[in-house]
Amino acid sequence: MEIQMISSRPKGRMESAPDSEVPLLNAIVSCLTREHQRFEEPLMRLANAATRLHSDPSNSKLYKDAVAAWSALSANLWTHLQLESDVVLSWGAARNDVPTELVEALRSEATRIRELVKAFDSAGDRLEAAKALSGLAHLLDEHIERQDHQLFPAIQRSLFKHPVRPN
Ligand SMILES: [Fe+2]
Repeated sequence: MEIQMISSRPKGRMESAPDSEVPLLNAIVSCLTREHQRFEEPLMRLANAATRLHSDPSNSKLYKDAVAAWSALSANLWTHLQLESDVVLSWGAARNDVPTELVEALRSEATRIRELVKAFDSAGDRLEAAKALSGLAHLLDEHIERQDHQLFPAIQRSLFKHPVRPN
């Protein structure tokens, strides 16, 4: 598998992308960008319902709306985060021209997202559930923004940068 080939490469700070990786990484970045667009609608519903539920935890309709939005969002979230971690962030971490701080910030956010999901799954009441879900909505929004506006452009710039041939 090409994806395994990329993700299993030994770590190091590389100067240029082998030509064979360019189309695959471009396709993965495009796929992740489209998924971010599909996350927008359920993410907005989640943010709205969870924030209001936080102020009104006894409201059953808000709880139901928040859980429904989270279910819609989480259906594809795990494979999405896995692909980002195993391929995009691993590849970015090995590049000189993708900022290390950016890759580390995104890895920390992914860890925090998983922690908030555990907090939601183990929530003892609706207030705890609302806190976890509103935290998830906020963090996912930031995570997507950082990827779309910082990581993906950095990766695309890196992919299109060709090494200078020696004379
Ligand atoms: Fe993403």
